[in-house]
Amino acid sequence: MQELATATKSLDKRGFLDMEIDPTLDLFEEIEKLKKEKNAILLAHYYQESEIQDVADYIGDSLGLSQKAASTDADIIVFAGVHFMAETAKILSPSKKVLLPDLKAGCSLADSCPPHLFKKFKEKHPDHVVISYINCTAGLKTLTDIVCTSTNAEHVVNSVPKDKEIIFAPDKNLGAYLIKKTGRDMVLWNGACMVHEIFALEKIVKLMARHPEAKFIAHPECEEKLLDIAHYIGSTSGLLRYTQENEADTFIVGTESGIIHQMQLKSPNKTFIPAPPENTCACNECPHMRLNTLEKLYLCMKYELPEITLDPAIIDRARLPIDRMLEISAKAGL
Ligand code: 13P
Ligand code: SF4
Repeated sequence: MQELATATKSLDKRGFLDMEIDPTLDLFEEIEKLKKEKNAILLAHYYQESEIQDVADYIGDSLGLSQKAASTDADIIVFAGVHFMAETAKILSPSKKVLLPDLKAGCSLADSCPPHLFKKFKEKHPDHVVISYINCTAGLKTLTDIVCTSTNAEHVVNSVPKDKEIIFAPDKNLGAYLIKKTGRDMVLWNGACMVHEIFALEKIVKLMARHPEAKFIAHPECEEKLLDIAHYIGSTSGLLRYTQENEADTFIVGTESGIIHQMQLKSPNKTFIPAPPENTCACNECPHMRLNTLEKLYLCMKYELPEITLDPAIIDRARLPIDRMLEISAKAGL
């Protein structure tokens, strides 16, 4: 089909299939049909737009999504998330087809740590154990001893023998938080997430004064000054659980605002206020995550493009630190 051939050619430049869609189609129904026809599973991160979350088979944090990608018996994994997440799914299930609706859905944290620069940094600390946050490229994972997510990071750091020194990459904020929590002095790579660094401390303090009953909850990718005033710090799944279990009825949410969709569904009578960013834009929406749309998702499932491909040698090496993470998580009951 001519239209598909042209759209496929532009994948490199645009990152997604740019094709007309019949406006009368019910995309929810079509996506459900495609899932069945192709034995495909649709995995979505909490930061995806609400419509995508509503059509997903599984919505979760980075750890949950990796565990699901490793255990599924589907033939196709459709990843509604960002590139490093889909790459991780491919590393864990190399025989499956892994699709990402928009190849340009990247991550500022992953971009902040190019493997060739990290290699030089690592050479300066040759005896250190390398722990990398899962928000990094497959290339960086090949230079890593143990991967972690925000859900299991403390367990991963504590799994390293006390006489071993540690490099933590790429998130300096999560790294600093872990140093405080575990008492381990780690060498930090200087990376950060653009979404979690945009929150405005002063505005949050004012908001807390206006809602003295509200709990301020924050992701550990936020800066220390914000974490210092948070009532609870946790991964996306931790934050979601806290809003369900805590008796407060108002929460100021210090992470990407997409997660509020699940918070509201699970606690319809509670109020969720997105933590305000420094300026007036929607900066607490991750611009990378939000590149995925229902339309791109439909096209990606219909034509099975764009697909994530990786060199088998990279898959073999990058798998080792991810497997270590999964073992540590399983032992910890996570
Ligand atoms: P978690 O969902 O694992 O907490 O990670 C948050 C995040 O920034 C994903 O990009
Ligand atoms: Fe990366 Fe931050 Fe977006 Fe998560 S929210 S994908 S860490 S840029």
